[in-house]
Amino acid sequence: MKQLLPRDRLANQVRQSLRESPVTALLGARQTGKTTLARMIAENHKPVHFFDLEQVAGRRALSTPELTLGECRGLVVIDEVQRMPSLFEVLRPLCDRPGRPARFLLLGSASPDLVRGVSETLAGRILFVRVNGFTLDETGPGEQNRLWLRGGFPRAFLAGKGESAWRWLDSFAATFLERDVPQLGLRVPAEALRRFWIMSAHDHGQIWNAAELARSLGVATNTARYYLDILNGAFVLRVLSPWHENLKKRQVKSPKVYVRDSGMLHYLLGISSLSALRSHPRLGASWEGFALEQTLGLLGETNAYFWSTQRGAELDLLLLSGGKRYGFEFKCADAPSMTRSIHVALSDLGLEKIFVIYPGKDRYVLHEKVIALPLKELPMLKLK
Ligand SMILES: Nc1ncnc2c1ncn2[C@@H]1O[C@H](COP(=O)(O)OP(=O)(O)O)[C@@H](O)[C@H]1O
Ligand SMILES: [Mg+2]
Repeated sequence: MKQLLPRDRLANQVRQSLRESPVTALLGARQTGKTTLARMIAENHKPVHFFDLEQVAGRRALSTPELTLGECRGLVVIDEVQRMPSLFEVLRPLCDRPGRPARFLLLGSASPDLVRGVSETLAGRILFVRVNGFTLDETGPGEQNRLWLRGGFPRAFLAGKGESAWRWLDSFAATFLERDVPQLGLRVPAEALRRFWIMSAHDHGQIWNAAELARSLGVATNTARYYLDILNGAFVLRVLSPWHENLKKRQVKSPKVYVRDSGMLHYLLGISSLSALRSHPRLGASWEGFALEQTLGLLGETNAYFWSTQRGAELDLLLLSGGKRYGFEFKCADAPSMTRSIHVALSDLGLEKIFVIYPGKDRYVLHEKVIALPLKELPMLKLK
């Protein structure tokens, strides 16, 4: 078997969650490494029960779930749990047994919003851990350009040659559209969804305009919203919500949409090498999305927003953490400098600090509260 890249930060998060909560759910797009991570964790648990709902045998084993799961002791892993949403009802009473004879680790590749009723059913009994593609602390800082170009899906990142990574992304996209989405019980023409996905790549990092997208696709506005819900719920697009501050300024209220994985973005835009990326008009947007995903992967993605006013002041990312507000700007430049927009964001939003994340080597101070930070140093950043 090929060597696995260790994912210690994620594994520790999962272990901690298993200690604290009767149910832990690992959520992330297909192929980000959820099953592999669960197997790594399971190695140190006894007894372990594994049910893979992707397999007929796994589904059959859970045909009488109350009985089967009720008898399990130790760690119970249920893979591709979105295939059987009725399980959540069954898990509820099992979580509330005295002495907690079993812990449940659920793996899913669709968000609870897409699979109806899940979040409510297990409210207060479940913790979520996001599993995205590789982050820089896992690949090592020396692999930054490879990670940027190919993205963080393990199979694309680790592929021997650039062409193999490309072929893998191509087949991932086809399988996703033709098999995974229909399997969620969603009826959408694969070709229309593919076109929507490609258009989203062209609009990567821009304010989302449902009406305009719908017009170019020749569908109703609600259909465009539905497509967005699907791709967001399956974790291939990211919808970043706008922050609204109580100011006498008009602020943007629509979300921004990103293709989550930078390799997938490049595949959809037809960018197959670093040199093609460097001369592409979407270079800056690609960096922004890549650095954004890395930041959210490393620092957590709850309480993340962007901010933008009608008059052009902007902040790429606002993170609320420990009662404080931190700003992030993502700049694909050799030596980013202070801008008016950064000044405005600092004073309007009352930010603790702004980090300007860029591809260079050196950290330097731009202002009392503003630091230019190489992406490579992000894994060491602690917000406090
Ligand atoms: N940490 C890792 N190091 C190397 N390869 C990995 C790692 N995690 C996953 N992979 C590979 O990526 C592919 C998808 O992983 P898998 O765990 O099946 O993803 P998921 O369960 O999220 O769909 C598999 O071929 C797997 O071997
Ligand atoms: Mg899996």
